[in-house]
Order: sequence, then structure tokens, then C-alpha cells
Amino acid sequence: MAESPKAFVTGYPIHHSRSPQIHRYWLDLYKIAGSYEPVETTPQDFPLFIHSLKERGFSGGNVTLPHKGQAYALAEKCDEVASHIGAVNTLWFEDGILHGSNTDAYGFACNLDDFAPDWEKETALVIGAGGASRAVLFALKERGYQQIILVNRTRARADDVAHHFGKGIVVADWQSVNDHIGRAELIINTTSLGMESHSQGQNDNNPEPVINFAAANPDVVVTDIVYIPLMTPFLKQAQKAGLKTVDGIGMLLHQAVPGFERWFGIKPQVTGALRSQILTSMGGEEI
Ligand code: ATR
Repeated sequence: MAESPKAFVTGYPIHHSRSPQIHRYWLDLYKIAGSYEPVETTPQDFPLFIHSLKERGFSGGNVTLPHKGQAYALAEKCDEVASHIGAVNTLWFEDGILHGSNTDAYGFACNLDDFAPDWEKETALVIGAGGASRAVLFALKERGYQQIILVNRTRARADDVAHHFGKGIVVADWQSVNDHIGRAELIINTTSLGMESHSQGQNDNNPEPVINFAAANPDVVVTDIVYIPLMTPFLKQAQKAGLKTVDGIGMLLHQAVPGFERWFGIKPQVTGALRSQILTSMGGEEI
């Protein structure tokens, strides 16, 4: 009899990860005799762990902070999306070869498909230029966005990202964000702090932008990739201005789908029941 498939999630630290709960929910739901276990690895030990995957009997797994860049370097074959983002969050063996992908772009797009089904328009405003921003930009380009305005506190980083993605991305100054807001049909916050740090820890040379949601197109969709808290200050402000908002938890749930399908052979569904269970475990509330 074939052994039950085994998958992992590794990071440093790993105890915050919601992934075991998501995958175990699906393993139970689909009655699959597989496992999904958290494994903590330090950055120093990470290469050794990756090289021992076959020996340990893993079919693959997820990689989270701070190892996504190392995973990209260590995977034997990476797909197009991982190469654009320069980071891998999902690993699996195929014909004995360790493949890597990044499923954040997929998760981002599926979340909007669920909660803002007509989100595929032309002009988007993206705030932030880190790894998450790259995943968002990939998804936007793939879904037909022609004009993407990118702003980041550190402009040089936005310039690099825009250069990497090429045509269709225009970098604007952090301070000029409100000059562009009215044109955007979709506004995405990809920064870790959202608006939270607005009132504290400001740096006078680089003041936080105050997003003037009142100047936004009334049909705009506003989304945040941060999901703790579920209603980030960024989303709250947008909602206060009467705008449609989509929270970030669906991205977390959907990004888990491709990995589960690779390791366990079934494409799992992201449902309201799964969402509620994960939110409850986070002490959050449905909005
Ligand atoms: P991730 O992979 O989650 O995107 P990251 O690569 O560290 O993480 O990027 C974090 C993003 O949040 C960056 O765009 C960062 O801006 P800088 O490039 O200027 O650092 C942004 N960010 C983090 N803290 C911020 C703050 N207090 N104000 C504005 N932007 C911030």
C-alpha cells in the first residue's frame, strides 16, 4: 500500500502559521489519510532541511517567512510567477524534481473573484513595493490591468519593481498618492503596517501618506493583503468613505489551494465554513 502523503510548512518562527489549520480542515473534510506538519527551521538550517525532504518522505510543503527567497534559490525548477516574485511559498516533487511556485498572486486574484467579481478593470493603485506587492502586480497584469500606479515609502524600491515588471507600471511619489486616487478602479495596500503607523513613529522626511478616500472614484474596490486585524485601519477608512472593501483573509485561504492539490490530489474549496473557522481561531469576527 502506498504511504499517506506528507506535507509541511516551515518558517522561523512557525507557531503563528495558520496553514496547518487550513490544510487539516481540508484533510478531514475530504477524508484524506495525509498529514501537514509545522517544522521550524532557522535560516542556517533551511538548506539542510530542503535537501532532506525526500529522505523524510515529504511530497512537498509550504515555506513562509523568512525562507521564501532561499526556497526560490534552492528549488530545482521554478515557474514564471515565482521567478517574477523572486520568492517561493509552495514546493512539490514532480518526477523526482523539486518544483517551486508562489501562490500569493493566485490567492489575491481568487479572493477578489469571490468578493468583487467584476474587479478586472484597467487602472489600479498599489501601495507598497515588497514581496507581497510583486505578487499583486503579477496578478493585476495577468488579469488585464493596463495602468498600475505604484507608490512606496522608499521610491527606489518601487522603481526597481516597476523596471522588473515593465510596461504598464508607473511609479509615483509617496507624498503624491492622493493626486492619483481618483483614477484608480482598484486600490491595494500591500504594506505590512497599512495605515496603522500613521499617528505614530513618523519620520519627518518620509511622512505617511494620508489616503484621501473621499477623492476616490465611488465605484472603486479597496483591498488590503493584511488580515490581522481583518478590518485594517486602511479598510476602515475606505469603508467610512462609503467605498467597497475586500479584506485579506481570502487571499490566505486561496493561496493554500494549489499546494493542497499538488500534495494530496484534490482541489479543495474555499468556503464560508473554512473562513469562519479560521477567523474564529484568530479571535476575529465576521464582518
Ligand atoms: P512583504 O513581503 O510583506 O511585502 P517587505 O518586502 O518587507 O514585506 O515589504 C514591506 C512593504 O511595506 C514595503 O513596501 C515597505 O516600504 P519600504 O520599501 O519603504 O520599506 C512597506 N512598509 C513597511 N513599513 C512601513 C511604514 N511604516 N510606512 C510605510 N510603508 C511601510
